[in-house]
Parts: sequence; structure tokens; C-alpha cells
Amino acid sequence: MRVAMIGTGYVGLVSGACFADFGHHVTCVDKAAEKIAALKRGEMPIYEPGLEALVAGNVRAGRLSFTTDLKEAVKTAQAIFIAVGTPSRRGDGHADLSYVYDAAREIAAALTGYAVVITKSTVPVGTGDEVERIIRETRPDAQFAVVSNPEFLREGAAIRDFKLPDRIVVGTDDERAKQVMNELYRPLYLNASPIITTDRRSAELIKYAANAFLATKITFINEIADLCEKVGADVQHVARGIGLDNRIGSKFLHAGAGYGGSCFPKDTVALIKTGQDHNAPLRIVETVAAVNDARKRAMARKVTAALGTSLRGKTIAVLGLTFKPNTDDMRDAPSIPLITALQDMGAKVRAYDPVGMDQAKSVLSDVTYCKDPYACAEQADALVIVTEWEQFRALDLDQLKSVMKSPVLVDLRNIYLPDEMVQRGFTYESVGRPGTKAD
Ligand SMILES: NC(=O)c1ccc[n+]([C@@H]2O[C@H](COP(=O)([O-])OP(=O)(O)OC[C@H]3O[C@@H](n4cnc5c(N)ncnc54)[C@H](O)[C@@H]3O)[C@@H](O)[C@H]2O)c1
Repeated sequence: MRVAMIGTGYVGLVSGACFADFGHHVTCVDKAAEKIAALKRGEMPIYEPGLEALVAGNVRAGRLSFTTDLKEAVKTAQAIFIAVGTPSRRGDGHADLSYVYDAAREIAAALTGYAVVITKSTVPVGTGDEVERIIRETRPDAQFAVVSNPEFLREGAAIRDFKLPDRIVVGTDDERAKQVMNELYRPLYLNASPIITTDRRSAELIKYAANAFLATKITFINEIADLCEKVGADVQHVARGIGLDNRIGSKFLHAGAGYGGSCFPKDTVALIKTGQDHNAPLRIVETVAAVNDARKRAMARKVTAALGTSLRGKTIAVLGLTFKPNTDDMRDAPSIPLITALQDMGAKVRAYDPVGMDQAKSVLSDVTYCKDPYACAEQADALVIVTEWEQFRALDLDQLKSVMKSPVLVDLRNIYLPDEMVQRGFTYESVGRPGTKAD
């Protein structure tokens, strides 16, 4: 099948490359000419494990191409995906749908025969109706159906998630569109990935409800972690103890610095706005968003507690900047409010991230970037682990200690063991577990 993917960001590029790998002919379109030019040269605009090889293989096979010419790509496509951004609208937190609606207008103008227009972007319930209205208004003669097909891939594991999804959600009542969707996803269907076919509004809401639930789970365990610190319990034991209950499940029960990233913060806020607009307030999600917001900056207080003194004039080394490992995405990363808080308290910040430093430079100022964890720790009064990249799990603690001004480690991902850290001579502070002081 011929597919046009409008928007070649994380979701568009990964989905486009995976659909090509299934055997479809995919043209990825983006307005950003420099991004398309780079892709044509074989350079990836994002860091995502396995993506470069997947793209290269499918380009070589003639199934994947890149263009800025939306009209050309849409003209011959039977399936047209909208995978543009839906960031928070400045001022009120509603999803900014201007990119989606612009894309719908451009698609409408370029339609030739029957085509299915599929919204893969995360969009509030009812957006499909508006996309349909826009296309009909722009092109009363066009033959098309608008389908909701939200994407659940996680950055850092995006290709695996796309090819082995827990479920595929298809929102449409149109029989012809259902057939197109079945053909598109046939390889996954054969792998027994469940396809949930539902009405369009339910499909749109599934995506937000899923993200809000996961954000709630994270925030729940973070608050339990705070309680553990006060009462002398260990959140990792509590998380294991509840997670083994099948009704709860063990995933998303890792206490940390608060959720961030390109989806959870904006999607929870957008869902809250939808609830308010429809007089069905989502009080739990409202609380989750507020608790999480306060948490990220509050993590700076852990550094003060570990040092036992004011941060003025101190040097703090930060390991990990991206919102999670295996991505270079800095959107809404918890490291941003944390570093800003450290700086506000008078600290000088040094930082290291395996792939995120270029992106970080555009959102953080007055940070000294270093070439590796040990260079970062040099003369630091405290070291803070913010993102759990694999390479931070087995740091040479003796080497760290030898280069730091004082051996203080604040582990916001609980990747080290408190007892072991004290034996190794560190003052160690983590999340929801007993802190330890070096002798
Ligand atoms: N990033 C994720 O992990 C993830 C996961 C699931 C769902 N989503 C959702 O998918 C959508 C896209 O997210 P993303 O992270 O890929 O965004 P992104 O910002 O990385 O990419 C969006 C791309 O769309 C392009 N674009 C905008 N308008 C265009 C137009 N009219 N024509 C052509 N190109 C256009 C932009 O230039 C940009 O390259 C969002 O709604 C997001 O919430 C993202």
C-alpha cells in the first residue's frame, strides 16, 4: 500500500520506517527542509536505537523516501497519516491543534481518489470530527474517511514498541477504512497483536486515559516514596510488594524525580482541560499534574540535605539530562527544573549526558558540559544521578571519589544500594530509602 506520513518527528519517522519494513511504500513528509535534507543524506534527526539501520535498509529497498512536497506524497497514497506535533498551547495548556488542522487543510487540497486520513498525533476527543469537517469544507468532492489510530511507542524502545505493540487502537465506523487499516497492520495482526476497533472518540480518549493512568501510577509511588523517607521504610520493597499483585502490576512503580518528556506532562494537562470543558473534572489527574510539577524542583532539596549546607558557591555534577535513557529528547525533562533550582540556590552546575548534551544546550544556560562522568565529577561537592543511562549503573566509585571534592552522591533513580555506598565511603541520598552518611 502507498502511505504518506505527514510529520517526520519521533512518531512519524519511526512509524514510517516500520510500515516500510512491513512492505508498504512510505513517503515521509516534513515542513522542516533541513530535516528532510539530512534524512536524504542518511542522517537521523533524533537518537533512537536501531533507527538508522532500519531507515537505511528501507531506503535502499526503495520502500521509504523523504520529501517536503506534501502534495506529491498525498496524491498517490491510500493511507495518509497525520503525525505532527500537538504541544501544549501557550497560556492555557490545551493541546495546540494548529499543526493538525493545517495538515488537514493541505491534505484536503491534495486528495485525488479515495483515501483514509489517519490521525496518529495525540489529539483531544472530538478532533477527528473537526479534521473531517475541515477536509469536507476544503474539498466537498473528496472521497475519504478520517480514522483515529493513536500511537503508544516509547522513545528509546520505539521500534520494538511499534513492531510488538500491546495493542493497536483503530477508531472508525467506516467499513472501507477498517479494511485499509487491517491491511496496513496485517503483519502485526498475524503476530497476534490485538487490534481494538472502536468508535473514533473512544480511540482518541484511550490514548489520553492511558497516559494519565501511567502518570498517576508514577506519582503515586513517588508520594509513597516520600512517606517511606519519613517513616523509615524502603520504597523499592513496597513497590515490589504491591507490584507482584497482578491487579496492580510492577511496571511504572519506580520512584524518582517525577515524570517528564514529550508526552505525559502535556497530555495530562490537555486531558484535564477536556474534562473541565465538558463539566467532568478529572480531580485525580489534576492532583497528579500539580504534585509532579512541584516534585521536580523539590529534588534540589535532596542535594542540600545530602550536603548538609547551603548550595551557594558549591559545584554540583549532574549525570543524565534527557527525560529518560536511550533518547536525546529534552522536552520537559526533569533535569531542567532541577538544574534551574540548583542554580537559583547558588550552585555551579557541571553536566554529562551520553547523547543529550547538544539538545540540552538550547534549554539550559550556564552549565559546564563534560566529556564523561569522571570529568563531570571533578572537584564537585556532590554528584546527582538524574537519568538512569546504563553506563551510570556501574560507575567506578573509587575513581569518582578520588576526583570529587567531597564524596556525596544523590541518586534520584535508586540505582545504587545505600549500604554499599556507605561502605564505599559515600554520603548517599536516594528516593524513598534511608539516607546514609559517610563516616
Ligand atoms: N514522541 C513520542 O514518544 C510520542 C509517542 C506517542 C505519541 N506521540 C504523539 O505524536 C505526535 C507527534 O509527536 P512527535 O514527538 O513525533 O513530534 P515532533 O515534534 O518530533 O515531530 C513533529 C513533526 O511534524 C512536522 N510538521 C508540523 N506540521 C507539519 C505539516 N503541516 N506538514 C509536514 N510536517 C509538519 C514538524 O516539522 C516536526 O518535524 C504528538 O501528537 C505526540 O503527542 C508522541
